[in-house]
This record gives sequence, C-alpha cells and structure tokens, in this order.
Amino acid sequence: MMNSAHEGPGARVRVEPDGRSFACAPGQTLLAAALAAGIDLPYECASGSCGTCRGQLAAGEVGSLWPDAPGLSERDRRKGDRILCCQSIPQGDCVIKLRAGDERVHTPPAPLGATVRSVRTLNPDVIHLVLEAQQPVDFLPGQFMLFALGAGIGRRAYSMANVAQGTGQLEFLIKRKPGGAASRFFFEQIKPGDWLDLEGPYGRAWLRHESQRDVVLLAGGSGLAPIWSIAQGALARSPQGPLRLYFGVNRAQDLFWLAEMEQAQQRHSNLQIDLVLMNPAPGDPVVCRAGTAGSALAADIDDLQSCDLYMAGPPGLIDNAMRELVATGRARADRVFYDRFC
Ligand SMILES: Cc1cc2nc3c(=O)[nH]c(=O)nc-3n(C[C@H](O)[C@H](O)[C@H](O)COP(=O)(O)OP(=O)(O)OC[C@H]3O[C@@H](n4cnc5c(N)ncnc54)[C@H](O)[C@@H]3O)c2cc1C
Ligand code: FES
Repeated sequence: MMNSAHEGPGARVRVEPDGRSFACAPGQTLLAAALAAGIDLPYECASGSCGTCRGQLAAGEVGSLWPDAPGLSERDRRKGDRILCCQSIPQGDCVIKLRAGDERVHTPPAPLGATVRSVRTLNPDVIHLVLEAQQPVDFLPGQFMLFALGAGIGRRAYSMANVAQGTGQLEFLIKRKPGGAASRFFFEQIKPGDWLDLEGPYGRAWLRHESQRDVVLLAGGSGLAPIWSIAQGALARSPQGPLRLYFGVNRAQDLFWLAEMEQAQQRHSNLQIDLVLMNPAPGDPVVCRAGTAGSALAADIDDLQSCDLYMAGPPGLIDNAMRELVATGRARADRVFYDRFC
C-alpha cells in the first residue's frame, strides 16, 4: 500500500528475487538506503521522473515524497502495488520486487548540509553556484546531488561541475527554467551564507577511470556541468589523451563558461571544444558551428565504437544522439553514459 510520505519509523527491507535485505532509517528513501547498504538498485534521475527505479511492493507499506511523480504511469497506479524506490519511504518492514544490479556503489548517498559560498551570474539564465559542505564530500566526475528545497518545491537533481578534491567544495551550473519552482528559488532568493540540505552523491554516468579508451563528451545547456566534471577527471587521468567536447545551446547569448573553456584549452592542447548553436545569427561574437551538438559530433566522428561517450542535457538531445549514434551501431551502447535532465 502507498500513502503520501511521512518520516516512517525505520524498517528492514527485503529485495526479491535475490533475497538481500537492508535497513532503512527514518525518513530515508528505499533507493538511498539500498545504495547505502551497497545494493545496486536500478535508477537514473533519483527524482521521480524517469521510472527506472520502479518496483513492486510485495509486502508492507510505503509513503511517497511525491505522490504524483510522473515516473509511475496511470497503468502502474491502477495496479496499486507499483512504487518508485527513489520516492518511497517505508512505514514499517517491507518486501520489494525488482531486479537489483551488481555494480559496486562507490560512495553511498548520504544527507549533507552545505553553505552557499558564492552565486555568480554567467548569463541571464545560468548561475555558477559554489557550496561548502560541512565535511569533505567524495563523488565521481559526472555525479549529482539532490537538493531538498522544501515544501512546495520538493527535491531536484543538480550535477557537480567540479571534481572531488578531499574538500567540501561543490560547484554547480544551474539554468533557469521559465516558471520553474526551483529556478525561482535559485534565481530570486539564494544568497551567500544560506544553508542548503542536500543528499548524494547519486548518478551512474560517472567517468570510467579504469577505461583506456578515448573520451568524447556531448553537452546541451546546463548539461555542461557533469560533462565539465568528467572532462577534468579525464584530463587528470590521461593528460595527453585526445578529448573532444561538443557543447550546444540555442543562441550565442545562451553560451557560458567560455573563459573557463579557453583556459582549459590553453593548458591542454589535447582538449578540443566545439561550440554549436541551434540558431546562429549574423554577427554572433563567438565562432560556432550551426546545428545541434549531436549533429556536429555525428558529422565529425563516424565510428565511436572504440570510444567512451558521455552525454548530459535536455532529454531531446540525449534521445536524438541515442538514435543517431547508438541505434545505428556507430557507438556501443555499453560505452555510452548519459544523464537526461528531465
Ligand atoms: C540527473 C539530473 C541532473 C541534473 N543536473 C542539472 C544541472 O546540473 N543543472 C541544471 O540546471 N539542471 C539540472 N537538472 C534539471 C533540474 O533537476 C531541474 O529539473 C531544473 O532545474 C528545473 O527545475 P524547476 O523546479 O525550475 O522546474 P519545474 O518545472 O518546477 O520542475 C522541474 C521538474 O521537477 C519535477 N518536480 C516537480 N514537482 C516536484 C516535486 N514536488 N518533487 C520532486 N520533483 C518535482 C518535475 O519532473 C518537473 O518537470 C538535472 C536533472 C537530472 C534528472
Ligand atoms: S530514478 Fe526514480 S524515477 Fe527516476
């Protein structure tokens, strides 16, 4: 049975069919608790939208942080026992049915408090937010945090733009969504000294450090955040290895992070960055290609089979790239890692 969320008393949860079990602390989601116990539940957005963490509640009761989350379809809701592990808080001992994976959980997500150090406007619709967590935070390049933004907004995912360096510093690139609830908070209210509640790290589209393959990166809009983190990780891993980054936005005035990109290219001659505009205009101040980041990549590199491809940004960008590159066999599905900003 599923209700709207309350803290819950804490619980023991068993996963079927593999039989492993884990403890869930009061207020903890099934996903956070399973990952904390090293159990690799399937997930993607961790925020209720994609449906990847959907399971069946075979026994017990859960509350939901977001009862209307679109990750459950109407059909799922009619079945009555379908739940999203990223939104569900047990109200007592439970049994859930879903297929857990066997990937190692590198750093289990945990609650985390952080202070706003700075908020810098990069263009009218993008900010660079720097936070200082109370303790050092470990995460892999490409991972994200959930921001608990309170009643009326809920939780939102934002990807780190920096790499972990044994400190509490977390950097984010946040894009305004017109009319968006979190966007209003970030663009109209937040200021240095404010306190934020986060949970993380989450995310599966992290840099595969052990891979020796060339890396190709594709970012749309604020998808640059995790891609920039991965670029830094890849440059640290293979300072001489070829690294191509395609960054697409709509118009020239939507570009940001240009000075940081230029500095990185000066330091690393192996880093090639292509800026791509969907709607270029005569007299644009920056040299850019026309089209989408995905189409520019597809035009340049015919065979991506021997590369690792990382992508982040709007769902359309990812879906098009998957159609153009993976469905056509030009890239191998097991070497493509992405975050859809849904
Ligand atoms: C893995 C991942 C990483 C992301 N990284 C970034 C990033 O680095 N930079 C960036 O700018 N954006 C990022 N996003 C997008 C970001 O999470 C927000 O969706 C975006 O900022 C718009 O939020 P909004 O509240 O302004 O808009 P809204 O339209 O108000 O909300 C956006 C989405 O949040 C969901 N939502 C609505 N109500 C609730 C609720 N009560 N509880 C939980 N969710 C709700 C809905 O799916 C809605 O479509 C990422 C998204 C994902 C999934
Ligand atoms: S991971 Fe739970 S809905 Fe996306």
